Amino acid sequence: MQRFVILISGRGSNMLALLDAGLPGECVAVISNRTDAAGLEQARARGIATAVVGHATSGGREAFEAALAAEIDRYQPDLILLAGFMRILGDEFVRRYQDRMLNIHPSLLPAFPGLKTHAQALAAGVRIHGCTVHFVTPSLDAGPIVIQAAVPVLSDDSEATLAARVLEQEHVIYTLAARWFLEGRLQVHDGRRVTLNDEGGNSDVLINPGCL
Ligand code: GRF
Repeated sequence: MQRFVILISGRGSNMLALLDAGLPGECVAVISNRTDAAGLEQARARGIATAVVGHATSGGREAFEAALAAEIDRYQPDLILLAGFMRILGDEFVRRYQDRMLNIHPSLLPAFPGLKTHAQALAAGVRIHGCTVHFVTPSLDAGPIVIQAAVPVLSDDSEATLAARVLEQEHVIYTLAARWFLEGRLQVHDGRRVTLNDEGGNSDVLINPGCL
């Protein structure tokens, strides 16, 4: 059975969606860079090993990333899922887990990389917003896209209402993408285009999970 590790920094709702999805793999650990991440308790309640590698106490970014990698490697995962993990990871760390680390980002990339994506979307006046699951590469929020989901932006939306609408879709597409990875069905072509291996051959990954 394939093994996966989830990295979180806070609430952990994506982590919970992944844990409760009945994925074809075993979650062998949940690791956080913050001791106060609420998701840790929920992982423990499900009998999953947890660990904290504090970014503030590790002695700088390189030491933090080395400690984080050492912790991850103890569990020998096939897949690393960043689920609301709020640290930017350096090149060396990212290359170590190349092609087996996924991230969920709350915008339709390449629009609105970085932080405060819902505020960015509202400020830009876009009518459609959403979320993206992508492979992690050294360039921030720019790795090969696995799946995206779109939601409307309504005229009376606040950051909070828009975030809630997007989050619901995050849970859907992240569990789908993780499932596909664990089933060995994702293929990255030329470091950019991702296809989903179907019984009938390779097909393009559909953009909106409602279509599946
Ligand atoms: C999610 O919106 C995720 O996309 C973003 O941070 C939020 C984390 O939420 N990077 P949760 O911890 O998964 O509830």
